[in-house]
Amino acid sequence: MTSSNQSQTVESSDNPTLPDVDQHIVKPNAPVVGKIHATRLCSASRKAAGFARHIEIDVSGTPLENSWHAGQSFGIIPPGTTENGKPHKLRLYSIAAPTGGETGDGTILTTTVKRLIDEHWDSHNLVTGVCSNYLCNLNVGEEITLTGPVGKRFLLPSQPELHDYIFIATGTGIAPFRGMITDLLNAKVKSKIALLMGAPYETDLLYHDTLLNWEAENENFSYHTAISRHTTPDQDSKLYVQDRLAHDNSGELIGMLKSGRTLIYICGIAGMELGVFQTLAKLLDPQELAQYLQIDPEIASEIDHWERKMIPKKIKKTKRMFLEVY
Ligand code: A2P
Repeated sequence: MTSSNQSQTVESSDNPTLPDVDQHIVKPNAPVVGKIHATRLCSASRKAAGFARHIEIDVSGTPLENSWHAGQSFGIIPPGTTENGKPHKLRLYSIAAPTGGETGDGTILTTTVKRLIDEHWDSHNLVTGVCSNYLCNLNVGEEITLTGPVGKRFLLPSQPELHDYIFIATGTGIAPFRGMITDLLNAKVKSKIALLMGAPYETDLLYHDTLLNWEAENENFSYHTAISRHTTPDQDSKLYVQDRLAHDNSGELIGMLKSGRTLIYICGIAGMELGVFQTLAKLLDPQELAQYLQIDPEIASEIDHWERKMIPKKIKKTKRMFLEVY
């Protein structure tokens, strides 16, 4: 190996390398059975606009035990059949547990699920999501069919202490970050860790009390909320996570963005991807921005006219940006 090749493979603050994690240990053609270990609301009790649950699954004794890294997903096959009589397809859910699970021994896998409840646009009939409602209805001790783990890109770097972290989530997009931040805090890294969390109302903030406690107990962790539908005399328009980044009065977030050490992780509603990219382009000078995004020179001066379809042809992310939007 030449010295230039060697330098490409060495992890540094501006060149994160990811661990080579296992995937598909349990495949869909031979799923395993886990048991619900705990289930509880993780939004503000019954006052929230939607119902989101923290669901813990015991996978002890199966090949899923000790198999995952924070940031990966796992598969759930709901029982029963579709309207056409076919078995339900597998659904992927983000793992909300740290590496090693809730108890550290690799037996308890967790996810965060919001019940999908909607009205059909034309027929105005009630629509209820198959897998989210199945999962949220399960009680402790009931069995569930599982596969996984899945995912090789949305992970913490191999040498986490070399970097600082900005995690940006909306809704259940918080799930992988709950696991990743737990991993970072458990490893006692000195890195700066900032979490930006967006929700419609205060009562929809997931794991809110836990995150406030982490902030109180860890000097290197800060928690910033963006409540979109709560207007006040000071805030008469929607506040999104990217606006929280832009209105960073303490200067902490902008300092992190400019530092040359920071990795950005984004998880949640698809629309925020473009909004975050535009905000970064407005906040940073071209050299600073190039740490996270490669912008086609043709569109560089027209940030307000960027459109989602320009991603990833004209707006490409670098190795310092990690995205999982849906
Ligand atoms: P809103 O729906 O008020 O426009 P949840 O998953 O719990 O519904 O939360 C999603 C959050 O993301 C809401 O606060 C929602 O605001 C917000 N949101 C919607 N569109 C965007 C966008 N383009 N960029 C950032 N946040 C968004």
